[in-house]
Amino acid sequence: MLLIHVTTAQGATHDVTAQTGQTLLEAVLASGVDGLLGECGGCCSCATCHCMIDDAQLALLPAPDSSEAQMLDFVATERMPGSRLACQIKLQAQHQGLKLTLPERQF
Ligand code: FES
Repeated sequence: MLLIHVTTAQGATHDVTAQTGQTLLEAVLASGVDGLLGECGGCCSCATCHCMIDDAQLALLPAPDSSEAQMLDFVATERMPGSRLACQIKLQAQHQGLKLTLPERQF
């Protein structure tokens, strides 16, 4: 089991449990924390699963592939250095303690 730390746009913090093999989107949706939508179901075509990964932890993730990089141009709020699409992040053991912030809105 992994523990992920989620901060909402309003500043509330939540510890979210996740399983390796889940996507970050699946883990946050299952936790009930509001802020991600995931309207396309994770096929990288909606950009409503935008989140910002803590800068210090970006190196834990592989770089966005070309479809994610393109979709990141369509996020509803400002794109930040740590901006990623949560549906494209497959959780693995090294993501224990991952910290992310959710944007104000997804559309
Ligand atoms: S859920 Fe649609 S791009 Fe991630």
